Amino acid sequence: MTLPRLTLEKIAVRFGGLIAVRDLSLSLAPGEIRGLIGPNGAGKTTAVNAISGVVPIEQGRIFLDGDDVSGLAPHELSRKGIARTFQHVEAFGDMTVLENVMIGVARHAPVSLWSAAVGTPFARRTELAYRKDALDILKLFELEGYQDTVASELPFGLLKRMDLARALASRPKILLLDEPTSGMSESEADRAIQAVRRLAEQFSMTLLVIEHNMRVMMALADVVTVMQQGAVIAEGTPHEIQNDPVVIAAYLGDEDADA
Ligand SMILES: Nc1ncnc2c1ncn2[C@@H]1O[C@H](COP(=O)(O)OP(=O)(O)OP(=O)(O)O)[C@@H](O)[C@H]1O
Ligand SMILES: [Mg+2]
Repeated sequence: MTLPRLTLEKIAVRFGGLIAVRDLSLSLAPGEIRGLIGPNGAGKTTAVNAISGVVPIEQGRIFLDGDDVSGLAPHELSRKGIARTFQHVEAFGDMTVLENVMIGVARHAPVSLWSAAVGTPFARRTELAYRKDALDILKLFELEGYQDTVASELPFGLLKRMDLARALASRPKILLLDEPTSGMSESEADRAIQAVRRLAEQFSMTLLVIEHNMRVMMALADVVTVMQQGAVIAEGTPHEIQNDPVVIAAYLGDEDADA
């Protein structure tokens, strides 16, 4: 049996009196694309926050390629090859779209952008290589016309595409996508997901994707895990999940609660 790329062993996350994630166990094989769904407030984003080290886990352990990485800081996990995108992505500072994606490239490249700033011929060549790499990825996400736009001026759907390009540019081992297509039109979402698929396959990434759009999920995920109130309530192929009475009831219950 191959060693799982990522294992969550009964993790729990608590915010004061609220247990947002309870006893969550999950195992992702290398190269797997796993879907994560569940009603609003189920704990999906919190799970991604825990895996990327943004929120501490109160219980359980997290393993990357068999190594215990529980409690590591976000930058340490990022260095180990865990990248993520954000449900509510915000542009910070006045960096352009190209600069944002070049930071992603610099994560996996041998020389950091910061030493490239020193200005030696080698550093200059490195920066040019980063720039070319970033431009290639921007093209895949149909953002080449926006390379010099300040990211904070982008509408939300384009910002989400830039966030995807930035995360994929770092060639992570594990990529966590939090509602990547929200704010996009259907055709925009389809094309962005195709680009994600292509890069993920090319670089053998393992993906965990939170996505409300079932059409996207059907096209992307091998297996879907369903959460409700912080716990896993079902797991199966997208087709099985769509027809699972337990899952249907969870979503209907959620609608009742909203009403
Ligand atoms: N930083 C936080 N502090 C306090 N409570 C939080 C925090 N983050 C999340 N929560 C709570 O934890 C629960 C799970 O939230 P989470 O954002 O993980 O759900 P979700 O499944 O991603 O929902 P959605 O589909 O709406 O994005 C919710 O009750 C939420 O209000
Ligand atoms: Mg969420």
